[in-house]
Amino acid sequence: MTQNTQSNLSVLQNVTKADVRLEPFPHIVIKDALPKELFEKLYSTMPSLTKVSKGQELESNERYIYSPQDFKQDEEVDNLWREFVSYHSSPEFFYEFLDLFEEYILDITPGIRDKVDSLRDANIGRHRLDSFDAKDILLDCSLNIYSPVFGKPSSFRGPHIDKPHFIFGGLLYMRDPEDRSKGGDLDIYKYKGSDHKFHFAENHPELRGIRYDIEDKYVEKVDTVKYDQNVLVMYPINPLALHGVSTREITPYQRTMVGMSASLENGFFTLET
Ligand SMILES: [Fe+2]
Repeated sequence: MTQNTQSNLSVLQNVTKADVRLEPFPHIVIKDALPKELFEKLYSTMPSLTKVSKGQELESNERYIYSPQDFKQDEEVDNLWREFVSYHSSPEFFYEFLDLFEEYILDITPGIRDKVDSLRDANIGRHRLDSFDAKDILLDCSLNIYSPVFGKPSSFRGPHIDKPHFIFGGLLYMRDPEDRSKGGDLDIYKYKGSDHKFHFAENHPELRGIRYDIEDKYVEKVDTVKYDQNVLVMYPINPLALHGVSTREITPYQRTMVGMSASLENGFFTLET
């Protein structure tokens, strides 16, 4: 088996600060993020939806998650996947994120200063393997598969701000090359004005309870990132980072991505509801 050094697995290996787009909020959209050979190896050895959904009956357009723990316990899975999810939940990956975005974070999320003195000096751990007793920030990386769409077209989630204890969100799209279905793209929004309200919803306590969704009438779509192969999107989470998933038409294809995040124990901003 080929031995991988950490950095040549990184989704950020071909990204520089010049790739950071500042409007309507700091983010990157990188096509062909991973070297073709690496992407194709990951794609061809990806765990199936049957495995990832662990025998649950599939709902339409629902998300099923394969965590680093699942990869660890899976004796059949290619070691490349274990290394890949491990690297993207490591301190080294967090520093790669900071190299791109650190200068913007403190300005756009003032509340974060109360939670952590310095992102650079924070104690970094791994979600589920470490806890906030010993760590300031926990990183996570998982395979996310959205099931085929049946019954009627649907959007997994309209415009929203991610949970306010997350520092960043990242996703690497892994579309089936045969999939020609429409939808499942990432829509990027800005506020229409200052007069807007969020829906506030409590959900599963493990997810630390907060969902901030917003009605279409308060926002304007400014960009769409097509769901495609080997496309990376990444952004620091803050009150400007509005995004949503476009409606998927009925399709037998799954929608697949690697999801990456870093979180603090508690949220560092609130939004008007
Ligand atoms: Fe989101």
